[in-house]
Amino acid sequence: MAKIAVIGLGAIGSVTAAALEQTGQHQLFLCTRRPLAGLQVETPAGVITVQGSNLTEPSQAAPVDWVVIATKAYDAESTATWFAGLCGAQTRGAVLQNGVEHRERFSPWLAAERLLPVIIDCPAEKRSDGSVLQRAWARMAVEQTPLGQQFASLFHGSGAITELTSDFTTAAWKKLCLNAQGALSAITKLPNRVIAVPGMEAIALDMVQECAAVGRAAGAAIEEEFPAQVIAGAKAAAPEGVNSMLADRLAGRQMEIDARNGAIVRFGQRLGVPTPLNAMAAALLQAVQNA
Ligand SMILES: NC(=O)c1ccc[n+]([C@@H]2O[C@H](COP(=O)([O-])OP(=O)(O)OC[C@H]3O[C@@H](n4cnc5c(N)ncnc54)[C@H](OP(=O)(O)O)[C@@H]3O)[C@@H](O)[C@H]2O)c1
Repeated sequence: MAKIAVIGLGAIGSVTAAALEQTGQHQLFLCTRRPLAGLQVETPAGVITVQGSNLTEPSQAAPVDWVVIATKAYDAESTATWFAGLCGAQTRGAVLQNGVEHRERFSPWLAAERLLPVIIDCPAEKRSDGSVLQRAWARMAVEQTPLGQQFASLFHGSGAITELTSDFTTAAWKKLCLNAQGALSAITKLPNRVIAVPGMEAIALDMVQECAAVGRAAGAAIEEEFPAQVIAGAKAAAPEGVNSMLADRLAGRQMEIDARNGAIVRFGQRLGVPTPLNAMAAALLQAVQNA
């Protein structure tokens, strides 16, 4: 049994809390900015009602074994306000966010050796506070280290699949390749079928190629054929499916521009790899977000 605090009960935090609940092993603390009347997640195995203590103020928190961070990348600073209460000498932190800068993002507050970056792949949508639809089991990738193994063991007995990888850099950059072309949906306000708009497939492929080139320069082992596979996956996706960046734009929320296309551009500049399409995507998204 572990004491686990989940910070951010949106789509990913709720899915993760439901998986931890499914194990029947843990004591959960659900950290939100508003009171949560209850939490129900419609999973592939039916509805899971999460039984956890809802904390709405960092001052209510006491040290736990694990802090699971499931806020958006741009909310790092407000997320960190929870750490003083939740983190004791032995507390470990798992960052379930997109991008490739999990450690850098939280390094001002959490020691690197107790911080675990997690890549999570899970089609999930928050319907309202306390209600989340999870369309498939979560797949997570973590480093093959003692910390990664401890994290994976938290989910034994749940539907979540946690893979231990000796090459997390590659896993993270491959996920960023998938996210790179997702910007086209947010720019055009079109769901996954944006890829079928004439001319769009070639642009999407070039965006992914840029990301793959930057990733390789950063040490990721991304195969030559991977970008084409990403585009094949995009073409096979449910035409009306909405990625999280488009969902954020449609809901008038901030988008994770900097952690995704912005990161590709920043790493590209640092490593001498040109990224004109991702730079344009980031600039266009920033413009519509500021409008
Ligand atoms: N959704 C997906 O299918 C998916 C798939 C893979 C990866 N991801 C990644 O997973 C991460 C989380 O995404 P998401 O889709 O779960 O986002 P989300 O649905 O927007 O959920 C984020 C939650 O964090 C809460 N939050 C923000 N700051 C907080 C704070 N200081 N204290 C407590 N709660 C706080 C927000 O609450 P408020 O309501 O108060 O703003 C919101 O409920 C992102 O990096 C995303 O890219 C998402």
